[in-house]
Amino acid sequence: MSQGTVNVPTTTADVLAKKIADRTARVGIIGLGYVGLPLAVEFAKAGFSVTGIDLVESKVARINAGDSYVQDVQSAEVNALVEEGKLRATTDFSVVAELDTINICVPTPLRKTKDPDMSYIVSACQEMVKYIHPGMLVILESTTYPGTTDELVLPMLASGGMKAGEDFFLCFSPERVDPGNPRYQTRNIPKVVGGVTPPCTRMGSLFYSQALQNVVPVSSTQVAEMVKLLENTFRMINIGLVNELAVMCDRMGINIWEVIDAAATKPFGFMPFYPGPGLGGHCIPIDPFYLSWKTRQAGIEARFIELAGYVNGQMPHFVVEKIQNALNDRGKAVKGSHIHILGVAYKRDIDDVRESPALDIIHLLQKRGATVTFTDPYVPTLRIEEETLFSTDATEALNKADCGVIITDHKTIDYSALLGDAKLIVDTRNALRGISSEKIIRL
Ligand SMILES: NC(=O)c1ccc[n+]([C@@H]2O[C@H](COP(=O)([O-])OP(=O)(O)OC[C@H]3O[C@@H](n4cnc5c(N)ncnc54)[C@H](O)[C@@H]3O)[C@@H](O)[C@H]2O)c1
Repeated sequence: MSQGTVNVPTTTADVLAKKIADRTARVGIIGLGYVGLPLAVEFAKAGFSVTGIDLVESKVARINAGDSYVQDVQSAEVNALVEEGKLRATTDFSVVAELDTINICVPTPLRKTKDPDMSYIVSACQEMVKYIHPGMLVILESTTYPGTTDELVLPMLASGGMKAGEDFFLCFSPERVDPGNPRYQTRNIPKVVGGVTPPCTRMGSLFYSQALQNVVPVSSTQVAEMVKLLENTFRMINIGLVNELAVMCDRMGINIWEVIDAAATKPFGFMPFYPGPGLGGHCIPIDPFYLSWKTRQAGIEARFIELAGYVNGQMPHFVVEKIQNALNDRGKAVKGSHIHILGVAYKRDIDDVRESPALDIIHLLQKRGATVTFTDPYVPTLRIEEETLFSTDATEALNKADCGVIITDHKTIDYSALLGDAKLIVDTRNALRGISSEKIIRL
């Protein structure tokens, strides 16, 4: 190139790469939930103009009013970005026509049969393809089975004759957000990305590197899809193992928590996992079944997953048995007792009750004739079947209740102080560690 010549981008890839690198690319995020909203905010903070698309009008209205409904995202941050014109939300998919990039962050639940429910991805793609145009980057972030991006999404996007890697760019990038984790958030969690072609991977990597600290390119969409399933299956199986050990230790009169703490002093080759009342959330109880469903198509049974699923699924029943035995030992029965639940979110310091074991435990206790109340500073109301329960004052409730049960160990609650108010406490999280009392029954 001679001196003074301007390097004008010529190919579709060059044009898009330039827009991404100079942050003039218009970014779109489909699905503004726990995953999509923090991502939208990160890209807006990096200087991009970001448009979120969601079906729920109330969410769209709240974003446009500068009001966050996701605990890890501050309203002040959303408000500042909306006022600056960097962030907006809409229910109208026609905005896709003006966008350069799209991240799809819609739900991927299981059907009742434990088969993947792809309907949200399919419907988002069907709406999006009406407005797709050459020069776009599309990245699927919803957790799914290996093969989804290539087998399901690619044919929909290419149906108009555009070619991946030349006319448009398609990747999968697993979302690893850990709600309530103050140390690791969207920006500093390494981002794995795999494209359907090498130019797609390069485009996806370039995109994420504008707003996130560390990008990890992999060779294919299937590898990227499998990474997420390995991570969550690893957790689910290890939790299953430690839950089974907790049941064994209970039978043998050994304190499992003390065992784990001592084992964790080994400086290599051991990673502690903790037992609990059962799995919860939108990821760990669900994602491994995406893998087992896919491998079943290939004639391979995912036996570890099925086994851990069974063991973890038994934990709410085990907790109810512990409550029943503790009451029986004190001359009472579950039927007719008042049981107060401390914490109903699926894990500490968050407001999410999706798949929370508290739901199963409350339902089982009610079925056995108990009156159940609860306290959760993050969850004001809870729907159990047809009934709505309201979070109440813990001290007052424990004073009246026959038994308290710690299901979620929120950091803001002083459990040792509450012990004085209770007649009996079943502690499924070791929230009362180090305290010795006849009133405490540990998992
Ligand atoms: N929540 C987590 O901690 C977490 C962590 C890692 C990965 N994931 C995965 O990320 C994906 C999204 O999860 P989430 O927790 O953000 O879900 P969510 O339910 O909080 O958010 C999904 C959003 O998508 C919207 N939506 C649904 N269908 C749509 C459509 N067709 N078009 C536009 N918007 C639509 C919903 O209204 C909702 O606001 C899932 O695949 C999940 O497994 C979640």
